[in-house]
Amino acid sequence: MTKTTAAITAVAGYVPDYVLTNEILETFVSTTSEWIESRTGIKERRILKGEGLGTSDMCVPAIELLLKKRGISALDIDLIIVATVTPDFVFPSTSNVVCDKIGATNAWGFDLAGACSGFLFALSTGAQFIESGKHKKVIVVGADKMSAILDYTERSTCIIFGDGAAAVLLEPNNEGLGIVDSILKVDGSGRQYLHQKAGGSVKPASYQTVDAKEHFVFQDGQPVFKKAVVGMAEVSAEIMEKNNLSSEDIAWLVPHQANKRIIDATAERMGLDADKVMLNIQKYGNTTAATLPLCLWDYEKKLKKGDKLILSTFGAGFTWGAIYLKWAYNS
Ligand code: UT7
Repeated sequence: MTKTTAAITAVAGYVPDYVLTNEILETFVSTTSEWIESRTGIKERRILKGEGLGTSDMCVPAIELLLKKRGISALDIDLIIVATVTPDFVFPSTSNVVCDKIGATNAWGFDLAGACSGFLFALSTGAQFIESGKHKKVIVVGADKMSAILDYTERSTCIIFGDGAAAVLLEPNNEGLGIVDSILKVDGSGRQYLHQKAGGSVKPASYQTVDAKEHFVFQDGQPVFKKAVVGMAEVSAEIMEKNNLSSEDIAWLVPHQANKRIIDATAERMGLDADKVMLNIQKYGNTTAATLPLCLWDYEKKLKKGDKLILSTFGAGFTWGAIYLKWAYNS
């Protein structure tokens, strides 16, 4: 009997209209466009503007486009997993809100907080429901409104991140296409280098935490950079070895978009030329859980049925990992 795999059958994204360029950042924080571009590869990022708008407001247009592309209704969806560290509320989950806003009344859902590895972890989780036969249509969204937790006077963090969302549809496949393998890792001792200090149960919000700017992203960039370069490269090489893949076998690397230097190091370790590496950091910056599906959305037209892809991430936690998948359709 052929094993049922979970294949991506559609992808769609949404980025807000407002473009925050490096040149605009220069006007209110002590930085230069040249520094940002040479150290990170970022030229601009999108920001969700508007009172009362949250992460779900980016998930909704992404999912509506996804449903339209696949020609199905929100009522056909069994499960929606939203990977995010910037949920609309601490509770209920953003997935709950999204199900309501799109009218997915037959679906259930939950949020998954894996920071920059959130989409990777959620994709692997969503795939289990397809492989087990429990569900037929699972949506996995990576979405973050990073601008909600950034201090725009702090030059080492506010220049990196942007807002965005993208979603994939997972469906059963009996041709061996879809997710083949995954290696997922966490190391909680890395939490000290990249986190949000207050707003959780350890340090609930207070006047003091607001005054001390503890609801913003804190990052000690250098140690994260060093761990990310090694972690993302090693796990990508590990999944290649485990599946007997050479660099010639791989059509595309889909890397987390945190810093172009980390992406280059990963591609080099895998023996891949730059033309096999998906890159959109220059226009969106680091959108945390949204980077991987936004890449798939941007490059969808270049993908061919059977293409072998390696998705690879590293982020806060630390969390990191890689997924090996075979693309399931021609656009
Ligand atoms: O996605 C989640 C995981 N996150 C990551 O993977 C991010 C990993 N880290 C990085 O990408 C890099 O560490 C950063 C982009 C955050 C920072 O780049 P860096 O090359 O590591 O810079 P640095 O922190 O070592 O700082 C070097 C210098 C410092 O000045 P001094 O002390 O040498 O005088 C900083 O103050 O650059 C200065 N600097 C800036 N200068 C202009 C830091 N940020 C800026 C800035 N503009 N925006």
